[in-house]
Amino acid sequence: MIYLDSAATSFYKPKQVEQAVCRAFHTIGNAGRGAHAPTLEASRVLYRTRAKLARLFHAESASRIAFTANVTQAMNIAIDGLLHAGDHVVTTVCEHNSVLRPLYKKQENGVFLTIVSADENGRIDPQDVQNAMRENTRVIVMHHASNVTGNVVPIQHIADIAHQAGALLVVDAAQTAGAIPIDVQEMDIDVLCFTGHKSLLGPQGTGGIYVREGLSIPSLLVGGSGVHSFDKQHPADMPTALEAGTANGHGLAGLEAAVDFLLETGVEAIRAREDTWMRRFLSGIRGIPHVKLYGDMDASLRAPIVTLNLGTADAAAVSDALWEEYGICVRAGAHCAPLMHKHFGTAEQGAVRFSFSYWNTEADIDAAIQALRDVAEECEDADA
Ligand code: ALA
Repeated sequence: MIYLDSAATSFYKPKQVEQAVCRAFHTIGNAGRGAHAPTLEASRVLYRTRAKLARLFHAESASRIAFTANVTQAMNIAIDGLLHAGDHVVTTVCEHNSVLRPLYKKQENGVFLTIVSADENGRIDPQDVQNAMRENTRVIVMHHASNVTGNVVPIQHIADIAHQAGALLVVDAAQTAGAIPIDVQEMDIDVLCFTGHKSLLGPQGTGGIYVREGLSIPSLLVGGSGVHSFDKQHPADMPTALEAGTANGHGLAGLEAAVDFLLETGVEAIRAREDTWMRRFLSGIRGIPHVKLYGDMDASLRAPIVTLNLGTADAAAVSDALWEEYGICVRAGAHCAPLMHKHFGTAEQGAVRFSFSYWNTEADIDAAIQALRDVAEECEDADA
């Protein structure tokens, strides 16, 4: 099997992630719920994971990171907590449903929504974002990299636009956390939503939200916190404000080990290797007839994603052929980014996405190129 679907979830993970999860099954209790050794160990695991994530993203302190089950939960917390009836929010056609659906829900409750379009390569022009700003714009919600095109947004520029207008910037880092270096302070990000199971290389069911020092977001979920149990209100201080109920301690133990690996190896080194695979693939598929690429492939900074179609061939059929005949895992369909596909005119056809990992090899990439060439020929024969 050749796994080229890392944008959906990382399949290859450092060995120590699995070991840390297994160890946690034998060592941790419920974090913050007592003073015996297993509960204290759970609290230590959670604290260390927060602190390491804060180091990875250059957050002010560990307490600015709250854990969530995934990026979708983090986006819901940010969008629900920061937008109220009468506010205006700006987003783009490139967004995933984890951004769009919470925004549509807010729109039903009196929030005004502007969706900025993209160019023919799926790129966002910051000037269009600037032009969309209004007096009551409270938030810009923007992907860091598109899960369809791999295009990276100039986040610092967007942050300037937001802040000059007195608005906040919420960033969806689902495709970049662990894949592209992120410094929330240098990039002037107010809220960063991330998932643990993609390029952070942790287990599924982990993720989180960074909230800039000085900004508070009201709780979305309230309940058990392990502290202030007689208060009717959920604690308002970060990170407890955005966490309720028992944490995914076992998963977070794995995430800690994954972040250790990222800090030791360096996100830039990981990015460089994944970039090599992506560029090797791109240069190998050049010349295959009827390949249509989606994204700005010439950009120097890209997420390690190549999305394409073979003429008018159904993307799901191409992806099935790659799996059934060559054992290659890719993702087809709409990638939960409906407006991006409408923009490219691929709502019906879908598109085939190849995404690369640190652990792929030259042989994986070359096999994928050959397989795509073969499938393209099969499609041509079928058309003839
Ligand atoms: N959001 C994930 C993807 O892009 C699942 O595949």
